[in-house]
Amino acid sequence: MLKLLITRPIAAPVLDQARTKFDVTLHEGGAMSVSDCATALATYDCILPTLGDQFTAEAFAGDIRAKMLGNFGVGYNHIDTQAAAAADVIVSNTPDVLTDATADIAMTLLLGTARRAGEGERMVRSGAWGGFDVKGLLGTHVTGKTVGIIGMGRIGQAIAARCHYGFGMNVVFHNRSPKVTAVPAQQLDGLHAVMAAADFVVVATPGGSETTKLIDAAALAAMKPSGIFINISRGEVVDEIALIEALETDQITGAGLDVYENEPHVPDRLRALDNAFLLPHLGSATAETRQAMGQMALDNIIAWAEGGDPPQRVN
Ligand code: DGY
Repeated sequence: MLKLLITRPIAAPVLDQARTKFDVTLHEGGAMSVSDCATALATYDCILPTLGDQFTAEAFAGDIRAKMLGNFGVGYNHIDTQAAAAADVIVSNTPDVLTDATADIAMTLLLGTARRAGEGERMVRSGAWGGFDVKGLLGTHVTGKTVGIIGMGRIGQAIAARCHYGFGMNVVFHNRSPKVTAVPAQQLDGLHAVMAAADFVVVATPGGSETTKLIDAAALAAMKPSGIFINISRGEVVDEIALIEALETDQITGAGLDVYENEPHVPDRLRALDNAFLLPHLGSATAETRQAMGQMALDNIIAWAEGGDPPQRVN
């Protein structure tokens, strides 16, 4: 039997199926370091890794037994796919199955930030709420406002649909290539044009070197002072210090974040800000979605093991 390493606990039915086809080892201890990854690549035939496991070029530099990484997650910026290809290791991911859940988290952040839900929740829990207040915690209306989506892939389009059909918002977007969308939406000329036009900016790009610090101080400076910034993609897409400064100085009104530059580290300065609504990378965190992600990751590995090409191959 081929040796499969699964780096996090996955849904029981998927794990059971994996055990019927592979000699399965479950990694314990959470995210794997570069040296854990190097050891895994030298020890197993195939691996089912996820976000946080550091499959860097260095991890691929030693002896390699593995031929297949079936990543659990659509984002695979934690895997150096070029180094993997050079070492003859196939990489696959799990698109589509997490689109709705992740778009829902974008809406949770958009609404939560617009309506100051985090501040309100903290007020109730701390006992500081003094009753209905005509001027208390006034947020901003969402209906009729403009959302600017950065990255109009599957998740960006699902967010656009929710904003347009669900909340009567106008949609503008920035995408690196021209894009025709099913949802009524206008592609503007350049990132800064979207940052400037939007009441809510939502980042939905992939991570990786092409988008690192795409949202820098200049991009944030293009936003309206009333603007709200949302990120559900990868923390590295945003210059986190520049964002903190924009929030501290009220250069923008608020931010809703599901992702951070050095997860799970969230800078103290960010955690101290009332105008930041912060979630712990929950984008795909529904039981249904996580099971579907596990199934898709495993199906890719099975396809490879049976001599085929994994359907969601990325390198
Ligand atoms: C992904 O799949 O890339 C998500 O960020 C994990 O929830």
